[in-house]
Amino acid sequence: MLKRVSLFSILIALSTASFAQQHSEQHYKGYVVPKDPAVQAKLKQWQGVKFGLLMHWGTYSSWGIVESWSLCPEDEGWCERRGPYASNWYEYKKAYEAIPKTFNPVKFNPDRWASAAKAAGMKYVVFTTKHHDGFCMFDTKQTDYKITNTPFGTNPKANVAKEVFKSFRDQGFMVGAYFSKPDWHTDTYWWSYFPPKDRNPSYHPAKYPEKWKAFKQYTYNQIEELMSDYGKMDILWLDGGWVRPFSTIDSTISWQKTIPFDQDIDMPKIAAMARQHQPGLLVVDRTVSGEFENYVTPEQSIPSEALPFPWESCMTMGDSWSYIPKENFKSTRKLTHLLVDIVSKGGNLLLNIAPGPDGEWHEEAYQRLEEIGKWMNVNGEAIYETTPVAPYQSGKWAFTQKGTAVYALYRAEEGEKLPAAVSIPFPGKWSKVSLLGTPGKLKVEASGIRLAESFRKKVADSPVYVFRLEP
Ligand code: GLC
Repeated sequence: MLKRVSLFSILIALSTASFAQQHSEQHYKGYVVPKDPAVQAKLKQWQGVKFGLLMHWGTYSSWGIVESWSLCPEDEGWCERRGPYASNWYEYKKAYEAIPKTFNPVKFNPDRWASAAKAAGMKYVVFTTKHHDGFCMFDTKQTDYKITNTPFGTNPKANVAKEVFKSFRDQGFMVGAYFSKPDWHTDTYWWSYFPPKDRNPSYHPAKYPEKWKAFKQYTYNQIEELMSDYGKMDILWLDGGWVRPFSTIDSTISWQKTIPFDQDIDMPKIAAMARQHQPGLLVVDRTVSGEFENYVTPEQSIPSEALPFPWESCMTMGDSWSYIPKENFKSTRKLTHLLVDIVSKGGNLLLNIAPGPDGEWHEEAYQRLEEIGKWMNVNGEAIYETTPVAPYQSGKWAFTQKGTAVYALYRAEEGEKLPAAVSIPFPGKWSKVSLLGTPGKLKVEASGIRLAESFRKKVADSPVYVFRLEP
């Protein structure tokens, strides 16, 4: 019997900041605890690592535009076309699909990315092997629309996904493949006989079952390649939640209401195959709920409270998932606060950085990671392998726990110094209180924790101050 944590529905309002927002709300219900012990073990491991890197990279990066969505003929802001071909959808798609002819990211150096991410304290990576546009960043045998069929194809690192996975794995990361279930290039999804009207197949799958069957096979084959030829994989992160059985649609969610028909790709079969190659694999069939969504993935948002099942917020370091030339990077302080907010509620942060057309990140991305790393080196023990503890947060304070220790994390504003006496709004009697990064224990008095001026000067300027409380 599958254990169901049902009756649980949480409304998460997404920020409107990113122009690539499609899913304006998400409800979570029906989380299914996996029954396979290998999956349980990996899930537990994954819940301990807390901090991961997501990368959206594809030919769209050449144009510095939103990932894939400009191909989608929906009248939505994030689908807007720009540039010389914008006025005609057919010409636009033709030009977009010709980008591979010039795609040549000669600066691609995944070892550098992995080192920078590792130094920041990240411990897992999820990489776009294929986004909705159908362009494959791996050497699939199912289509020519792929990275090895570009000028970069002669480069020794041409099979980009393989190189990314290897570099990160070599540095101790858990490794995940982002894979879009919808595919706007293959003729078995957007069948050229009918023009596509929206993100869904251009034909009715029930009316053309052979077409749909061929699409299912295509998807199965590609996932099988990724699960068998790319080394040890930990996560299969499936995006494009409108490709799902009709029966799973949650009609209280507006974007799901627009899904016109059944798009069942037979997840039981795909997951069984994938786990045969990769025992214990985490399968994340995003937004679908149930047996194949081993953890839930709020997007650009953080739940308002701790959730009673495994979850991860995916968020952008700048504003966009994909490379844009002028990115608006969040400050290190802000990023650290996001991580602390998430971890105190029991989640993971999957932070997105977008490689550019030449295969490099913006310098700011390296700089942010370096600064986060400085904080993590001192304070990581309050993050990794912790569990949430009530009251989770109180004002600028957030709490985590590990063993008998509780960590109280104070999210400081820019320029804010620790006061001379700190009182921590966490119940209990603590015989030993210390500030991470400083030796010795602090003096606890009835009025709070006394901090000498010289001490406060020394530790000034941390984005988050972390106190360890021990009984
Ligand atoms: C949004 C974007 C999609 C991106 C995803 C990452 O849904 O539309 O392109 O891959 O977020 O979580």
